[in-house]
Amino acid sequence: MDSSGHAVIEKNMGLLIVLIVLAISFGGLVEIVPLFFQKSTTEPVAGLKPYTALELSGRDIYIREGCYNCHSQMIRPFRAETERYGHYSVAGEFVYDSPFQWGSKRTGPDLARVGGRYSDEWHRVHLINPRDLVPESNMPAYAWLASAPADAAGAPAKMRALRRLGVPYSDADIEGAADAVKGKTELEALIAYLQGLGTALRNVR
Ligand code: HEC
Repeated sequence: MDSSGHAVIEKNMGLLIVLIVLAISFGGLVEIVPLFFQKSTTEPVAGLKPYTALELSGRDIYIREGCYNCHSQMIRPFRAETERYGHYSVAGEFVYDSPFQWGSKRTGPDLARVGGRYSDEWHRVHLINPRDLVPESNMPAYAWLASAPADAAGAPAKMRALRRLGVPYSDADIEGAADAVKGKTELEALIAYLQGLGTALRNVR
């Protein structure tokens, strides 16, 4: 057995570590690198639109409030999931998301296709106090969002940063961003964001 050379590797920690790192790096690269060149992972699905200024502002509130700690945005390709939530998520739906909000913790339901499932009014009441609509809900209340103004001044800079990452915003989009958010509450922005989720590829079975 010693003649195989295996014993040498097993007795030499430094060499073992170097070889493990090499093996893992090679395996990782083989899996990861092709994804950068596959159309299905780099191109948006048909009908996918970049977030509007208001939706983008809502998305930041979603992140700030930690909604992802209880909600995933990724429908797995299993019958039990597609029956409940709709078509499973595909990579092309997330090309304008930086960073994406897939998550994996599901204290509450997946939200990848929640857009259009309820009315704006439902979301308003639910976010102000979830127990008003779902008595057994353990979701926190976010009542203050209704009186907090959405961040209009920051909107153009967010869009400019995303454009640099490849999101196709026009100059007009960016110029109009502050006005589109001005006068809206954080609650309205968050609802606008939720109502757009997953709508590019809904009901495809
Ligand atoms: C502590 C965990 C928790 C957090 C944090 C949380 N939620 Fe929830 N959420 C739940 C649970 C549980 C439900 C299911 C009961 C209900 O509808 O209230 C739910 C339901 C929902 C629903 C309805 C989904 C459906 O398909 O019926 C929406 C929309 C939603 N949450 C949005 C949000 C948003 C936006 C935030 C952040 C501002 C958030 N949640 C934060 C636990 C959470």
